[in-house]
Amino acid sequence: MTDTQFAPKKLFIKTYGCQMNVYDSDRMADALAPHGYHPTQDMAEADLILLNTCHIREKASEKVFSELGRLKELQTDRRASGGDLMIGVAGCVAQAEGEEIARRAPMVDMVFGPQAYHRLPEMLAKAESQRHMHPSLKRAVVDTDFPEEDKFAHLPAARKEVTISRGLTAFLTVQEGCDKFCSFCVVPYTRGSEVSRPVAQVLDEARRLAEAGVKEITLLGQNVNAYHGEDSGRAVGLGELAYRLAEIPGLERLRYTTSHPRDMDDALIAAHRDLDFLMPYLHLPVQSGSDTILKAMNRKHTAAEYLALIDKIKTARPDMALSGDFIVGFPGETDQDFKDTLSIIRAVGYASAYSFKYSTRPGTPGANMGNQVAEEVKVERLARLQELVTSQTNQFHASMVGRTLPVLIERVGRMPGQVGGRSPYLQAVHLEGSTDLIGAIHQVEITGVMTNSLTGRLAQAAAA
Ligand code: SAH
Ligand code: SF4
Ligand code: F3S
Repeated sequence: MTDTQFAPKKLFIKTYGCQMNVYDSDRMADALAPHGYHPTQDMAEADLILLNTCHIREKASEKVFSELGRLKELQTDRRASGGDLMIGVAGCVAQAEGEEIARRAPMVDMVFGPQAYHRLPEMLAKAESQRHMHPSLKRAVVDTDFPEEDKFAHLPAARKEVTISRGLTAFLTVQEGCDKFCSFCVVPYTRGSEVSRPVAQVLDEARRLAEAGVKEITLLGQNVNAYHGEDSGRAVGLGELAYRLAEIPGLERLRYTTSHPRDMDDALIAAHRDLDFLMPYLHLPVQSGSDTILKAMNRKHTAAEYLALIDKIKTARPDMALSGDFIVGFPGETDQDFKDTLSIIRAVGYASAYSFKYSTRPGTPGANMGNQVAEEVKVERLARLQELVTSQTNQFHASMVGRTLPVLIERVGRMPGQVGGRSPYLQAVHLEGSTDLIGAIHQVEITGVMTNSLTGRLAQAAAA
């Protein structure tokens, strides 16, 4: 297929869920560009709408079916006026409920899981060939197979001009899937088993991003620190990969997410000690502070082991800030278990944290456990936990006042005359300054705290 076979068309992708979906949406846009599809931010002008979905909690998948309801109206209107609209459902809901979507939502043209994105052009060709069929005969093209080939090797190189969400910072998926099977989680079923991209592929992509002006890369993986990419016949871990990425000209900052406590090895901790390039901010979810619940969750470590790990990391990198994920109301969670979670939060002192009520996921071991916790108990525990975390976050932000931080200035600010960027600890920082500052790291003296951000002034200006 060549570019000239298709008239230019517009592609709109709505992305739900985690950062890996954000990365994937860009790669889908890259894969469709040679076939005449150009991204638009305006759903109303799209010829093809893709929903890149998330299945992690119940509400996440409900949203998809209600969005499909709205899209059906758009498609009907379009057809009534002689036009057309194609609809695809991608991502983790598609992987988990592919056949059901095809049955429940006949206006959907394609349903395909995260392992099939490199086959998107073929699926699209198939779907386009049957778009004028009578609706009763038409059936969505469904592809939820896990590939034997390396999906990433078959996706086209990321193209700067078509990618939607890239600026000075970019995501780069290095690892996909999960073999851990925490008893609450759908990811091992939707993303498949753990696969790492070869080192050369990762370095190539990082170099291309740097050449396109990217200064900060966030490496992504469901278990990013379990990364073990092949390099000349041996496996390279995330720590070693960080040193290799640090050598790429133009790249100034590296982050990675999400890490599992059990994969936080010495080489990675040493990289945090040695490399200023590696940002001192670590998302290291513990989920619960109770050993009973950790065991039931199949996390395979205790609360004490987690705390010892944090100590070790802070010894290597004393200014390391931590963020976490917590689940309240896992089956069997007692008041005491919940108190243990509050205790571990107090012991660690998080810079930020995400917390969720346990959501029963069909097909996961947690769904069949007795002792499911009542909704009102979950609601109450979540509120208490969030109150504690919010006070820690506020305290963390307040501790920055008076300090001078390197800030990667990325954009114009909210107010006229302001610019904004991120601190090493991922805090949004706003300051007065010209747009010439955008694109580089500047020293900023932090002068104040807003609800979710910091304010500051250029340190050089302050000294003058
Ligand atoms: N790989 C990461 C987590 C990926 S899912 C890890 O191991 O930590 C992101 C977060 O969603 C999880 O950390 C967990 O806190 C939450 N989550 C996952 N499944 C959930 C469920 N069934 N109910 C509520 N929260 C859930
Ligand atoms: Fe889910 Fe656990 Fe794997 Fe994280 S480690 S993706 S929570 S199964
Ligand atoms: Fe959701 Fe799939 Fe990510 S379930 S959180 S989109 S891996």
